[in-house]
Amino acid sequence: MTMTVLETERLILRPLTGDDFDDYAAMMADPQVADGLAEPVGRSADDAWRSLAVFIGHREIRGYSHWAVVERATGEFAGRAGPWRPHGFPGLGVGWCLARAHWGKGYATEAARAAIAYCFAGLDADEVISVIRPGNTRSVSVAERIGHRLLREIDYKGGPALVYGQRRGESPHS
Ligand SMILES: CC(C)(COP(=O)(O)OP(=O)(O)OC[C@H]1O[C@@H](n2cnc3c(N)ncnc32)[C@H](O)[C@@H]1OP(=O)(O)O)[C@@H](O)C(=O)NCCC(=O)NCCS
Repeated sequence: MTMTVLETERLILRPLTGDDFDDYAAMMADPQVADGLAEPVGRSADDAWRSLAVFIGHREIRGYSHWAVVERATGEFAGRAGPWRPHGFPGLGVGWCLARAHWGKGYATEAARAAIAYCFAGLDADEVISVIRPGNTRSVSVAERIGHRLLREIDYKGGPALVYGQRRGESPHS
């Protein structure tokens, strides 16, 4: 199992572990967080445990997954972000999810840029996508900031979803 750790200007991206459960469950209990997700998940601690287990298991199966996003300055758990391709997902994706206290700092954009660079360089991807619910304007803004463009609309997990993406060599808008 890969234990890749990435460092960005303000963040450490390190593998999620079971020790993150309390922080993870607190993040997922917030309706503002849980309601925007393309992968629907409930807000209970049981739901959070299963969700965390899926991200850890994804790393076991694929060799990569979302990392824990940790704020370098404080060591605080800020959320999760990283590459993602579970069965049935429409491509190699990058995703992002932050605890409410860490919105508005640019952390999702910073983590997503590092994750995309990892997908192209470390995973040899030709295309990296993000799958976003149409009303999730904050997430759409992240996709646009990292240079993803709208590719298509799909039905995903029982509802409409926007597929944003970027091909290898396409330069980001910003
Ligand atoms: C989607 C989500 C990660 C976006 O978080 P976010 O904080 O809005 O996005 P970023 O981390 O890129 O931060 C951008 C904001 O930080 C601000 N910012 C402050 N300091 C900054 C800095 N140093 N650098 C960059 N941006 C900075 C930007 O101006 C921008 O502000 P705005 O929201 O007023 O436009 C967050 O809303 C979330 O976790 N939602 C719930 C889960 C979810 O929906 N996930 C996506 C599923 S597809």
